[in-house]
Amino acid sequence: MYRLYVNPNVKKGHIHPEIQGHFSEHLGRCIYEGLYVGENSPIKNTNGMRNDVVEALKEMQIPVLRWPGGCFADEYHWRDGIGPKEGRKKMINTHWGGVVEDNSFGTHEFMELCRQLGCKTYINGNVGSGTVQEMSEWVEYMTFEGVSPMADLRTANGHADPWKVDFFGVGNENWGCGGNMTPEYYANLYRRYQTYVRNYKSDAPIFKIACGANVDDFGWTEGVLKTCFRAPAFLHGFMDGISLHYYTHPGGWEHKGSATDFDEAMWYQTLNKTLYMEMLIAGHTAILDQYDKEKKVGLIVDEWGTWFDVEPGTNPGFLYQQSTMRDALVAGINLNIFNKHCDRVRMANIAQLVNVLQSVILTDGEKMIKTPTYHVFNMYKYHQDAELLSSSIETEQIGTETDKVPNLTESVSLGKDGRIHVTITNLSVTEDYDICGEFTGTQIQGVQGEILTNAMRAHNTFDAPETVHTESFDGCKVDGTQISFTIPACSVLHLALTV
Ligand code: AHR
Repeated sequence: MYRLYVNPNVKKGHIHPEIQGHFSEHLGRCIYEGLYVGENSPIKNTNGMRNDVVEALKEMQIPVLRWPGGCFADEYHWRDGIGPKEGRKKMINTHWGGVVEDNSFGTHEFMELCRQLGCKTYINGNVGSGTVQEMSEWVEYMTFEGVSPMADLRTANGHADPWKVDFFGVGNENWGCGGNMTPEYYANLYRRYQTYVRNYKSDAPIFKIACGANVDDFGWTEGVLKTCFRAPAFLHGFMDGISLHYYTHPGGWEHKGSATDFDEAMWYQTLNKTLYMEMLIAGHTAILDQYDKEKKVGLIVDEWGTWFDVEPGTNPGFLYQQSTMRDALVAGINLNIFNKHCDRVRMANIAQLVNVLQSVILTDGEKMIKTPTYHVFNMYKYHQDAELLSSSIETEQIGTETDKVPNLTESVSLGKDGRIHVTITNLSVTEDYDICGEFTGTQIQGVQGEILTNAMRAHNTFDAPETVHTESFDGCKVDGTQISFTIPACSVLHLALTV
């Protein structure tokens, strides 16, 4: 019997909805085909956006979407993507498959997509190959309400009203694909570029994000903060957030391995590498704490997820991969970690939304499937805007000689709906576990549960789209302040407690 301890009287912080955020890049079939098919497509769409995909993402309560990259962001020139489509510049997408980018999805289309999704907007600007003027004018184009050259241009292009830019990233991976800079050089550029990311609406300031580290490059975080830390941006500081990128590639960059064909050893290796996120957040937070004791600057994990070999026969530059129960566990574990660090992790964006890396949705022509990762986000959505509660769970170490992991992870919140939401992952491929939950001083009136469980390699295909799906879980007994249940092997569980 493993004990779960929850103290509903101890609230540990607010879980920003954006912790369950997403990322969409001009990469492979994410934007084109996955999200946007154009007004004239036989696939049902509204203003070019796939209706089936939009509907699924709304159900999952997508809180925020990052665009246009990724590496693509530092090669993207926003003026190429506005105005009549037939006049838009074509370019080669050098990073991703060398295909022709026709710019038919640009700023207006992104804002329309976010309008349909009802989500916040996260724009990533170009520092690597763009100018300060270009960035400044993009912000003016999107957000200025009065008379100005850019506001007039926007109006001429059919959108008189300004949009709201909620988050703005000043460059992406500028230590690598975004210009191969040193931290000090980038930080000085950041100081300059962010100056011209103007807040035209004082009541809706833009949340400015500096490019942070790759994985455990703590020297980058330190170097950037040393040179340009001043928070928060909307009070004449420089930044509201700094990013962190960490992908799980189980066999390392050179040997990522198959998304669907793996053994138990690879399962535990993958989950072990996923758990490294905990250490990364703690490490970068420790540096941030030295500059920002009041925790005003958010850690923005704006790229995370699994990165496997592409599906056989697909374009290597398109990063198209399947998603199994292993991905579901990766998602559940990471989201539990982010919840536990909600005092510092202000937003996180899984890579990427559709048809690229650890997607929540895959499409094939007019067909669409929800991946196991989708179902995890759909179960965890009750944590959005909730208050994190003090909780812990007894665990044991399982796995292989080289890759040990705890058998269980959890997080618990008091939801906006007044219920207590418990999410638990069982990392064991083979073992079920009995769990007894104790909720200090809190009488439990009832429990509703839903579970995602299956064999480790199980996944949905276009021929069998429902192989992995959530089911209701009614194996939970209530006794005063306690609950007890058995969590099956290889599963992600959500319990909603009425108190
Ligand atoms: O998500 C794919 C790529 O991974 C992004 O373009 C880049 O930022 C990262 O290296």
